Formats: sequence, structure tokens, C-alpha cells
Amino acid sequence: MLKLENVSVKRGKSIALKDVSFKVDAGKTIAVVGESGAGKSTLIASILNLASLASGKISWNDKPVRKISPALVSQEPRAAFNPVMTLKQSVLEPIVGQKKTLLPDRLNRLCKGLELPIDLLDRKPSGVSIGQAQRVGIMRALITSSPLILFDEPLSALDAVTQKHTARLISDLQKEEGFAAIIVTHDLGYAAAFADDIIVLKTGCVEEYSSAEEFIQSPKTQYGQDLRNAAFALGALERAS
Ligand SMILES: Nc1ncnc2c1ncn2[C@@H]1O[C@H](COP(=O)(O)OP(=O)(O)OP(=O)(O)O)[C@@H](O)[C@H]1O
Ligand SMILES: [Mg+2]
Repeated sequence: MLKLENVSVKRGKSIALKDVSFKVDAGKTIAVVGESGAGKSTLIASILNLASLASGKISWNDKPVRKISPALVSQEPRAAFNPVMTLKQSVLEPIVGQKKTLLPDRLNRLCKGLELPIDLLDRKPSGVSIGQAQRVGIMRALITSSPLILFDEPLSALDAVTQKHTARLISDLQKEEGFAAIIVTHDLGYAAAFADDIIVLKTGCVEEYSSAEEFIQSPKTQYGQDLRNAAFALGALERAS
């Protein structure tokens, strides 16, 4: 289980996260929503040990999170890859040294599920579209079999149909493999359909933390209500039902 206890993080001179606490059990998903600049990516960075804590504690089963090497799907699809390596080299990099017997099957399944031709992986990051790079980023995270996967706006560059198929693939693999997931998203429909819990961040603070069901039915705060109503206005929540 991932546990954040009273985590605060400074970025530059200001506090980007203030006193954030939550838990994610194995096999469960928490969605992190909130306005641009609220601290969502900072939260991900702090779990990856890429942002030092001003105070608080982050652990996985009471041990440091780095012991389980969490996988990341970066918010910036192309920038997440080494520009001189092929996408396949980048995808396989996190699993160097592991047994490769099941790898061809797994690569095929992931390519199929993510609707990517397998030979696309022979290209460099500059030779694919942003939406394709985003899906290769998802593939690189899913291939690791890490018990914790952090998705920072993983579907932002995809069309609605591909979003739906990709979300379904992530969810199916999660059911099979039992990884815990944190999904940063602006899409409340996605959060409502696939997350167990939702956390709303506002200027670095937890504004709301509840089950997805509770949040969609009756947000506890004005800001939560505004977010949910805006999603209703866009039709996003109807899509989830
Ligand atoms: N390297 C940095 N140095 C200084 N301040 C930073 C740095 N990175 C982020 N910040 C600031 O920290 C705050 C939180 O940024 P963060 O990237 O976590 O937001 P976010 O919620 O992920 O936003 P978005 O939805 O736009 O991705 C912002 O005010 C941002 O300007
Ligand atoms: Mg961000």
C-alpha cells in the first residue's frame, strides 16, 4: 500500500504541496484532479523522489517507495524518451536484465491494445505523433510489472475512442496484475468510470478526498461541486455512465 502522510513540498520559493495525506491499496486507483498549477505533477514527482519533501513521509508497505521502482507515464509524451534511441530501446530499458521469454507476447498484446503497429517501435520519438508517443509511454510503464504506476494525464493527446480503449486496457491489466495506480486527469468522466477514490488538489492542498462514487454524487466542497458541474456541462460525466 502506498501511503502519503502530511507531505509538503517546496518548489522554488513557494510551497507546491501542503500537508497532503492519502493511501492507495494494491490493485486500486486514485484519480488526482484539480486546476493547472495545483501541484498534481509535483505530487507525482515527490512519490518518485524527484522533489524533496519539506516535511512528511511517503512509503510503500512501510518501506521507502524507491524499493519498488514505480513506473511513470510522463505528462510530456515525447520529452519522456531519449531522442537518439528507438522507441523499442526505450520501452525495453526499464526491464533490462529481466527474463524475456514472455516478452514478444506481451509486446504484441500491448501494441494491439494500444492500437499501435509493432514496427512503429523501430522509430525514434521525433518520428511519431504526440498521441502515439503518449501510448508508447503507457506501454513502457505497463511492461515493467511495477506494483505502482503513476500516470500523469495519460490520455490527454488521444481522441475519445482511443482514450476509451486505452483506459480499458489499463484497467484490464490492473485487474490481472494488481498494480496500484495514481492517475492525474482533467477528465472527471474518466476518473468517475475507472478510479476507486478521487482527490481534488487546489493550490497544493487537498480540497476533497473521497470515493469516486461519493464525489460524483455529492462533492463536499464548493470547489468540488464547481468541478463536477463543469464536467456535467461538458457532457463528460454522462459519457461515464
Ligand atoms: N521546477 C520548478 N520550480 C519552481 N516552481 C515550480 C517548478 N515546477 C513546478 N513549479 C510550480 O509548482 C506549482 C505546481 O506545479 P505542478 O507542475 O505540480 O502543477 P500541475 O497541477 O501538475 O499543473 P498542470 O495541470 O498544468 O500540469 C506551480 O505553481 C508551478 O509553477
Ligand atoms: Mg502537471
